[in-house]
Amino acid sequence: MFNVDKIRQDFPILSRQVNGKPLVYFDNAATSQTPQQVIDTIVDYYSNYNANIHRGVHTLSQEATDAYEQARIKIQKHFNAKFSHEIIFTSGTTHGINLIANGFSSILQPEDEIIVSALEHHSNIVPWQMLCERTGAQLKVIPMNTDGELIMSEFESLLSDKTKLVFVNHISNALGTINPIEQIIAKAHAFGAAVLIDGAQSCPHIKPDVQALNVDFYVTSAHKMCGPTGQGMLYGKEEWLKKLPPYQGGGEMIAEVTFEKTTYADLPHKFEAGTPNICGGIAFGAAIDYMNAIGFDNISAYEHQLLTYATQQLSVIEGLKIYGTSPQKTSVISFNLEGIHPYDVGTILDKLGIAVRTGHHCAQPIMNFYNIPGTVRASFAFYNTKAEIDSLVEGVKKAKMMLS
Ligand code: ALA
Repeated sequence: MFNVDKIRQDFPILSRQVNGKPLVYFDNAATSQTPQQVIDTIVDYYSNYNANIHRGVHTLSQEATDAYEQARIKIQKHFNAKFSHEIIFTSGTTHGINLIANGFSSILQPEDEIIVSALEHHSNIVPWQMLCERTGAQLKVIPMNTDGELIMSEFESLLSDKTKLVFVNHISNALGTINPIEQIIAKAHAFGAAVLIDGAQSCPHIKPDVQALNVDFYVTSAHKMCGPTGQGMLYGKEEWLKKLPPYQGGGEMIAEVTFEKTTYADLPHKFEAGTPNICGGIAFGAAIDYMNAIGFDNISAYEHQLLTYATQQLSVIEGLKIYGTSPQKTSVISFNLEGIHPYDVGTILDKLGIAVRTGHHCAQPIMNFYNIPGTVRASFAFYNTKAEIDSLVEGVKKAKMMLS
């Protein structure tokens, strides 16, 4: 049974006050809050078995190594990867994207093309622009419509034998649109292109199955799904990970080093140079356990109710415009009040204890498309409530009254 009051008790931060008001945390698309179970895992690690991994024969090192590798297996199972060595620990989604972009710099030729979408976060645009500058390859963009959806017929016309990589987010961080990645993957594969999906915004809401998707690479961050910051994962099909060169050189990623030549370690260590965020990896595993115990079906059904309720309540405010109106949407509402800067709305909401994000959300091309400087973005998680949405609606009305 999904019991939001009980779930909220797991999150110590949700009982604090901000500016003398109970915190209403609606900036979950930027980072989620951390349940006590994950905080306890972090405290336990540093209190009881903090040690470097894969190096020591001593007990602490073995305990830390076991816990870290067990976390990798949890992640493998969660995403239904075929092998645990297809899961590479990273510092986050951006690290995973840059790792792949670096790998493709040894594959791409000047006549090749990479396709991204108009709905991308800057971290999904800049690494590919840098890659194109290095290799001479061309960057093509799938356009969007006013509902904030990708225009699939345009995608099809961009695909050709020159397409080597297609890169799309699973869910837009700025608008919440769920992209049709199954279709995108199938169509790209028909032209022999590899597909990388950015799951930073999807993994807090749904459970992707990388084998069913038949995706080549999938990246995400732990901190958007109740885990710590500075930790993420890259899934890559074994055949691709074997083919790509290492991203960073250093300890851990080698088999043998001489001054004449170095041979690289097997997967996954080939891509994990240096001492990793050991505690972060273990806590990522604990966060996945925590969310699975609640259940992703329960999470997405409840969040959908929050989205529907908030959309109804906000839409009736005169002069309020919602950006991103696809029926395929997760629990994100980006909006503006006519004639009022989003930053001013966000500042008044903060005075009322309500945390939202304002600005371009690292997605300037989307803001340019709508010809706006930015939006107010309220993003909901499974521990939010309808009563909190009522506070948001009241806060927005107050902001409108004060700023009009
Ligand atoms: N990409 C994160 C966001 O959308 C930080 O807020």
